[in-house]
Amino acid sequence: MAKLAVLASGNGSNFQAIAQRLEGTQHVIACMICDRKAAPVFARAHALGIPGYRVSYLKATREEVEQEVLGILNEHRVELVVLAGYMRLLSSLLVDAYPGRIVNIHPSLLPSFPGTNAIEESFESKDYEMGVTVHRVDYGMDTGPVIVQRSLSRIPGETLEQAEQRIHALEHQIYPEVVMNILEDIEKSKQFVCESDRRTL
Ligand code: GRF
Repeated sequence: MAKLAVLASGNGSNFQAIAQRLEGTQHVIACMICDRKAAPVFARAHALGIPGYRVSYLKATREEVEQEVLGILNEHRVELVVLAGYMRLLSSLLVDAYPGRIVNIHPSLLPSFPGTNAIEESFESKDYEMGVTVHRVDYGMDTGPVIVQRSLSRIPGETLEQAEQRIHALEHQIYPEVVMNILEDIEKSKQFVCESDRRTL
């Protein structure tokens, strides 16, 4: 069994898609952490029976908040951190605590359109395709190594809202699968360590 935490700031539809994908598997979402008080993601966590934690950047530095986040992650023995709409840039404190074990989903074909208005910017652009990227998280904004990208062809006459819906539907297909694969790899690596320990005894 491998444990993950989801960090979110808003709606939580990707969080829910991942939770549903993991149902009936050996892997679990140990907790959900959110930096916005009234975010709909809390109701989703409650309905799923997953502990939800609020952290606040209002009166604390980023490092102080990340210390608190690390405390929660340690308490739950989290092995993978999944950002799903978390609207904060992580510092080295958190990134270095989980080397290669923090992933994010972004609604554009990175490196095009990083940042917060990715869907609108790619929709307004002259690019032939829009899309979705899952990547590992480094210190930059949407700059880490790409794990998977999927593109969407343009549909003539499509509105921004319709394009948004298609992008989110694609996210809900891709992200849970990528997360599942990483959890399986984590599980295999633990078994490998156990095997080699046994051999050296
Ligand atoms: C998604 O579009 C994701 O790509 C971006 O933030 C949005 C989060 O949506 N990083 P939700 O909160 O998972 O519904």
